[in-house]
Amino acid sequence: MTDDNQIIIFDTTLRDGEQSPGASMNQMEKLRIATQLEKLGVNVIEAGFPAASEGDFGAVKAIAKALKTTQVAALCRANTNDINRGWEAVKDAAYPRIHTFIATSELHMKYKLQMEPDQVLQQAIESVKLAASYTDNVEFSAEDGSRSDPDFLCRVFGAVIEAGATTINLPDTVGYAIPEEFGELVEYVQKNTPNIDKVILSVHCHNDLGLATSNTLTAINAGARQVEVTINGIGERAGNTSLEEIVMSLHTRPNFFPFTTSIDTKRIYPTSRLVSMITGILVQPNRPIVGANAFAHEAGIHQDGMLKNPMTYEIMKPETIGLSKNSLVLGKHSGRHALNAHIQEMGYDLSKDELNTVFEKFKRLADKKKNIQDEDIEALINEGVLRSAEVFCLEYIHVLSGNTVFPTASVQLNINGRPVQGATDGNGPIDAVYNIISKLTGTKSELLRFTISALTEGTDAQGEVTVRLQEDGIVALGKGADPDIITASALAYINGLNRLEYLKEHPVVKAENF
Ligand code: KIV
Ligand code: ZN
Repeated sequence: MTDDNQIIIFDTTLRDGEQSPGASMNQMEKLRIATQLEKLGVNVIEAGFPAASEGDFGAVKAIAKALKTTQVAALCRANTNDINRGWEAVKDAAYPRIHTFIATSELHMKYKLQMEPDQVLQQAIESVKLAASYTDNVEFSAEDGSRSDPDFLCRVFGAVIEAGATTINLPDTVGYAIPEEFGELVEYVQKNTPNIDKVILSVHCHNDLGLATSNTLTAINAGARQVEVTINGIGERAGNTSLEEIVMSLHTRPNFFPFTTSIDTKRIYPTSRLVSMITGILVQPNRPIVGANAFAHEAGIHQDGMLKNPMTYEIMKPETIGLSKNSLVLGKHSGRHALNAHIQEMGYDLSKDELNTVFEKFKRLADKKKNIQDEDIEALINEGVLRSAEVFCLEYIHVLSGNTVFPTASVQLNINGRPVQGATDGNGPIDAVYNIISKLTGTKSELLRFTISALTEGTDAQGEVTVRLQEDGIVALGKGADPDIITASALAYINGLNRLEYLKEHPVVKAENF
C-alpha cells in the first residue's frame, strides 16, 4: 500500500470538518472540494457519513463516482445498517473504503453505549467482518482510543485485524492527549497488538488543547503511517489536525521527520481558500501556513533582514504552498484570457461557462475598482460559481441612510424564480435591509454574529461580510462581498438564509451521536 516512509494523508474535511458548527455543505460544494483534494494529492477522502441522511448518502455516492485516483471512504457506525448503507454509497468508487468505528473507553462504553466491553468487542468484530465481505479496504477506529484501557484497545485491535481490518485508527477524540503520552500509546499498541505489522496504523487527533499537530507528529515518529486531517484544521469543537501543518512540518524539517507525502504543496493555499469560501469559516490571520499574516513581515527590522536574505525570517517560501507572489495584476483592460490565466495560477480550474460568469462580474467590478487583487477574484468565484441554485437571490437594493434621515431599505428578491419586493425601516441601514429581507423571505432566523472587513487595502476595497444565523437550533454561516458594504451585508444575509434552507432539508448528523 505504501513504502515505509510515506505518510498516507486521510482527509476528513468533508466529514469531521463538516461537523464544525455552520460548516455544512451541499452536494455540489462537496464535490468541488473533493475534486480539489484529489488534485492536492490526498490519498483517502472521507466523503461523509452515508447513513446520516439522504443528502449525505447522495454526496458520498457522487464523490465516489467522480474521483479517479483517490480512495473514497464512507464513515459507518459499527452496525449492519450503517455498513450496508456505507458500501452502497462508495461501491462505485475506483478505490472504495469502509471506515467503521465504535467507542472503546470505559466512559463511552458505560455511559454512551451502555454496553459491556465484551459486547463492544463482538460488535467491532462482526462489523469489520461485514465490511470485509464487501471490500478488502476496511478501516476500524476505536473512538476515544486515547482514553481507553491500553490492553483492551490492543485486544480490540488484534481481533478486528483478524476479522479483516486493513487500517487501524487510534483517535484522540476529545483532544485530551499530550504528545509524549500519545507517542507512548502508539508504541504500546504496536508492541502489544497481534499482527499490527500487517496493517496501517493511523491516528486522528482533535485540537481541544491545541496539541493536535504535535500529537500527530509524535505519532508519526512513533510509527503511525496514516494521519487523519482536515483543511484549515476545521472540525468538531476546536477542530482536527490540520493537513497543512502536518505536510509543511514534514516538508520543512526532514531531519526530524524523514517521511514523504503525495501532497502537491503548491495546491495547499488554493485549497485552504476554497474550503474557507465554501464553508464560510474564516481563516484566522495568524493561523500557521495559510493565515493572511503567515508570510507577512510587518516589523521594520524583519523587513530589512528579509530584503538581504528572505531565509532570515522565512522558514518556508510562500510559493511552496501556492501563494502567488504577484497579486496586483488585473484591471479594467484585462481580457478574458488574462483573467483565466491568473485564475489558473491561483489554483482554480473553471469551465467555459463558469469563466464567462466570473468574467462578467469581473468587468462590473473593474468599473468600480481600479486594481483587482486575488482576494477580489476569489470573491467573484465564490459569488458566481461556488454557489449552487439558491432559493433566495438579490435583484436590487436601494437604501436611504444618513445622520439626518430615518434609515429605510427597498429590496427586490427573486424567490424560487418569482420576483418579490418591499420596503421597511430600521435603526440603521443594515437593520432596515435585514428587516425587509426577513419579511420577504418569511424567515425568522436570529443573527448571532455579524463581521465586516475590507478584502484588500484602499478605500475602494470590497467589503466582505460574514454572518452567523440560527433558526430552530440550526446554525448557518453566510458570506457576501461587494464594494458597497450594505449590498455585501445583504448578500451575506441571503447566503446564510439559503444555507439555512438547505440545512432544514439536509441536517448534519454527527456520527458520534448514537
Ligand atoms: O474523533 C473521532 O473519534 C472520530 C471517529 C469517528 C474516527 O471522528
Ligand atoms: Zn473526529
